Amino acid sequence: MITSDQEFFMHKSLKLLPMFGHTNGNRSAATCHYKCGNACLGETCNTSDNSYFREIAGAALSRRAALGLGGAAAGAVVVGHVVGGGATPAVADFGGNGSAGGKLAFTPIAPVERTVDTVTVPKGYQWDTVIRWGDPMFKDSPTFDGFVKTVEQAEKSFGYNNDYLNIIAEDDTHGLLVCNHEYTNEEIMFPEDWFKANAAEARKIAIASHGFAVVELVRAGAGKPWSYVKGGKRNRRFTGTTEFKVDGPAAGSKLLKTVADPSGHKVLGTLNNCAGGTTPWGTVLSGEENFNQYFVGTGSSVEKRYGIPTTSERGWETVDPRFDLNNEGYANEVNRFGWMVEIDPQDPTSTPVKHTAMGRFKHEAGNISVAKDGRIVVYMGDDERFDYVYKFISKGKYNPRAARQANKNLLTEGDLYVAKFTGDTEAEIDGSGKLPSDGAFDGTGTWIPLTQNGKSMVAGMSIEEVLVWTRIAADRVGATKMDRPEDIEPNPVTGKIYMAMTNNTQRGTEGKAPADEANPRNKNKDGHILEVTETGDDAAALTFGWNILIVAGDPSKTSSAYFAGYPADKVSPISCPDNVAFDSKGNLWVSTDGQPGTIGYCDALHKVTLVGAERGRVEQFLAVPAGAETCGPVIHDLDNMVFVAVQHPGEGGTFAEPISYFPDFKKAGARAGEMAGPRPSVVQVYSLIGKDGKPGKDGKDGKPGALPNTGR
Ligand code: FEO
Ligand code: CA
Ligand code: CA
Repeated sequence: MITSDQEFFMHKSLKLLPMFGHTNGNRSAATCHYKCGNACLGETCNTSDNSYFREIAGAALSRRAALGLGGAAAGAVVVGHVVGGGATPAVADFGGNGSAGGKLAFTPIAPVERTVDTVTVPKGYQWDTVIRWGDPMFKDSPTFDGFVKTVEQAEKSFGYNNDYLNIIAEDDTHGLLVCNHEYTNEEIMFPEDWFKANAAEARKIAIASHGFAVVELVRAGAGKPWSYVKGGKRNRRFTGTTEFKVDGPAAGSKLLKTVADPSGHKVLGTLNNCAGGTTPWGTVLSGEENFNQYFVGTGSSVEKRYGIPTTSERGWETVDPRFDLNNEGYANEVNRFGWMVEIDPQDPTSTPVKHTAMGRFKHEAGNISVAKDGRIVVYMGDDERFDYVYKFISKGKYNPRAARQANKNLLTEGDLYVAKFTGDTEAEIDGSGKLPSDGAFDGTGTWIPLTQNGKSMVAGMSIEEVLVWTRIAADRVGATKMDRPEDIEPNPVTGKIYMAMTNNTQRGTEGKAPADEANPRNKNKDGHILEVTETGDDAAALTFGWNILIVAGDPSKTSSAYFAGYPADKVSPISCPDNVAFDSKGNLWVSTDGQPGTIGYCDALHKVTLVGAERGRVEQFLAVPAGAETCGPVIHDLDNMVFVAVQHPGEGGTFAEPISYFPDFKKAGARAGEMAGPRPSVVQVYSLIGKDGKPGKDGKDGKPGALPNTGR
């Protein structure tokens, strides 16, 4: 337990600095501490032995037989298709509205040394911020002050550490930005003296700096950069105290009840929202990831499986008793986090929802395909070493002609599955990353049911237990332990699914699961990307084929780096793939989280060609500043624009000794209240080449020109 506020800050700053550098989990020590509560330094959460899949699958099949459900593939919809076939997104989500007629042509940048403190973009491109941490969102928002913060200012301003991002272009000049705020870096946000004197206030500010932001955008025309609208009609902040409705089979269960919410239907706040997705009906999904770090646990084995610490990481229990599970009546508070949440950015009066039907784990992604029969399929990862990949299939069907409200209930009811990957040359996998004799890490897979038709498919667990303790349910059915599955997203052009495994340096170490064909390297520091094809190209299929598209690394140093057969000496080095996105042609874009610690370069955004002779070619588009991670890539290639959320810039430094000055690059003391240190920001990259094919000089070809940034 934290014994004093002074110790808290000492713990956070002084203890971290000597460790600055990178942990064996590849992140900076500070990132480990703040982002995931030192998940990579602590014990492995998944100590289950589920490697004897055949026996367990046999048991599962017997249960299925007992229930009259037939074999593992029974119930599969044989024919179908995915997004792109009759399920056009309601918003211009892919590739922008295209009026600028761009192709997003670029010459790849060289990898950027990890200490470089700027956004690096290709020749002919310019970058600017759309909105920064602390920028006022409402007409009555207090002005951001770098030195003295308030809860009111935090609640009415853009939050900290933006992660999932979408830029919804509604026409050439109007749009909507939706972004989540994953976590906070108190040692960078607050002067140390101020924090010590105002610890309770600082913690409430941190809680208010989590959540989501919805902000209206305007611009002068297609291809031009966006500005945010202060006081826009749909502007909204969701925080760690906003009321959420809980729906689905576990809503109202005894596992979700607390003394403050005896109904089990109302949760205050959303926390640690990481990867996300935008639904065809225009709402936004986002996974609550490392929620464990906000709680002080009781030490139970169930809590251990979710990595809930028994000592305080953030001291939030000192300002709100629900964050200490030992406090009477709050044992279940932690069960109310770790869900997939859905918000409606179009309706600022709507109540956001936590969907229990989609299970509870360290949620990532939430990207959707529509099966031929119209059911909605959501792909999700559980970002922890040796955890799993999931998918949810809705009971109801998507109706693109129905009012949005009708589709907003689709994620309330449905079946939850977890992935089992089986290699076709498994016996040859030795953990070195050497390709097997058939020339590919590949094989087949099964979606193993955890819930179906409103019933548990896991012996000995009720449906409420399966949904609240999904990790334990998945352990029991023999899911494949993966190397930190983060973003998982279907390609809107081909329907194939791309799964980013960020890394897992414990793979194959003593007592831990060894390499397998889907996770083929022991001590996997660089990660890899799987390409999955559902049987019959039907998103609702219960079997699939897969191959590893990229075994990441710097090919000049790592012989196992593999790029779908493309010459390794002709690609940009890439490590720790984290978020994925697609342009309008179906090219894959991959952002990274951890390159500084593995290959010595700033985190990046890379384009990957998927088809034709250049399949596997990786081309680096941008690099983010020192200490930052590239999050939330949005590719509007038809507008010649790319957007990223620059998260945790300068992590590893402190307020007094910043290691990044992004995005304003102002030194301390320039102006009263002005913060010198870094501010997480949404960045837009746009072409300086105008429709006339020449670089713009007069503000007409790509520069904002006369349009003021209305938000500042
Ligand atoms: Fe929030 Fe899995 O990174
Ligand atoms: Ca193989
Ligand atoms: Ca991430």
